[in-house]
Amino acid sequence: MPMVCVTDFEAQARELLSKSTWDFIEGGADEGFTRDDNIAAFKKIRLRPRYLKDVSHVDTRTTIQGAEISAPICIAPTGFHCLAWPDGEMSTARAAQAAGICYIASTYASCTLEDIVSTAPRGLRWFQLYVQLDRQLNKQLIQKVESLGFKALVVTVDVPKLGNRRHDVRNQLDLKTNLLLKDLRSPKERNAAPHLQMSPIDSSFCWSDLSWLQSITQLPIILKGILTKEDAELAVKHKVHGIIVSNHGGRQLDGVAASINALTEVVAAVKGKIEVYMDGGIRTGSDVLKALALGAKCVFLGRPVLWGLACKLSRCARCRRFLQDRVSMALRKF
Ligand SMILES: Cc1cc2nc3c(=O)[nH]c(=O)nc-3n(C[C@H](O)[C@H](O)[C@H](O)COP(=O)(O)O)c2cc1C
Repeated sequence: MPMVCVTDFEAQARELLSKSTWDFIEGGADEGFTRDDNIAAFKKIRLRPRYLKDVSHVDTRTTIQGAEISAPICIAPTGFHCLAWPDGEMSTARAAQAAGICYIASTYASCTLEDIVSTAPRGLRWFQLYVQLDRQLNKQLIQKVESLGFKALVVTVDVPKLGNRRHDVRNQLDLKTNLLLKDLRSPKERNAAPHLQMSPIDSSFCWSDLSWLQSITQLPIILKGILTKEDAELAVKHKVHGIIVSNHGGRQLDGVAASINALTEVVAAVKGKIEVYMDGGIRTGSDVLKALALGAKCVFLGRPVLWGLACKLSRCARCRRFLQDRVSMALRKF
C-alpha cells in the first residue's frame, strides 16, 4: 500500500518494531495527557483561508539563525536512533542533508558526532545539550561540536529529572548500559565492553549558569522546552538566540500545555527579539501552517523521524533480525 501521510509510517513502524522499542518511542510521562494533547490541540484550531492570491509559484525556503533551509520543517533531537535502524543517526543526517533542512543531534545519539558529520558533511546541524554534571565534559563536548561545524547549541531545559515513563519501567528498558552516546565516554571506554554509566544531567543548572555556557562558546544558544511567558522573558533577558516551545513530546512533565497552545504566549512575550520555534504533535502540513501562523519561525519533528527510520526495516529482513537482537540486549533488569 502506498504511504501517503506521516501516520502511515507510524502504523508500519508499529508493526516492525519490538514492543519495548515502540513503547520507548511512543511513550509519554505518567498518564500521557500532554502527549495526547499535543496532537488533539492542533485539531481544534481552524484555518481562515484567504483566496485570490497568486500561489502558482510557492517558495518554502526560510532561514533559522541566519542559515537557509528548504522548508520550515526540521528534525528535533531524539536519542538512540540505532534502536530504529542499524546506522541510526547517520541515516537521519543524510536524509536531512538531502532535504536541505536542519538536524538537531541529541546528546544521546547512538553514533559518534564525527560519524554524523562525515556521513553528511554539507548538512546544517545543531547540537542538543543536556547539561552534564561534569562541567569539564560540557566544555569538551561544546569544543567538539564547534570544531565539527555544528551551528547552534540547543540546551534542553525540561529534563532536570527524567520523566516517569511507565511503559519503560514495566518493560525494564535500560538504555544506559547498552546504547550509549559514544561522545560521553572516554576514548578508552569507547572500545571497552558495555556497562558504562551514562553521565548524569546537571539538575542544579539555573538561569544564572547560562552566562557560564555563554562564556565557553561562540555558538548561538537556543533553549528547548520553554512553555511560559515568564521564562520566555527571562530567555530574552539572558540574551539567548532562540526558543523551542516544547514539552518534550509529553515525555517529561505530564499536565503541561500542548506546545501549540503555549506558542502564542511565548511569541507575544519575546516581541520579535529572538526566533521562536516549536515541536510536539506536528503530523500534517496543516499543523505546520497553524504553527507558522501563530508565530513559529520553524517546526521540528520528533517521533515521525524515528518512524521513518524504522520503515526502512520493511525492506530488509536481515536488519530486522539485527534490531530484534539489539532490543533484546537492551532489556535487562535494573
Ligand atoms: C524517542 C524520543 C527520544 C527523545 N530524545 C530527546 C533528546 O535526546 N533530547 C531532547 O532534547 N529531546 C528529546 N526528545 C523530545 C523531542 O526532541 C521533541 O521535543 C518531541 O519528540 C516532539 O514531539 P513529537 O514527537 O510529537 O514530534 C525525544 C523524543 C522522543 C520521542
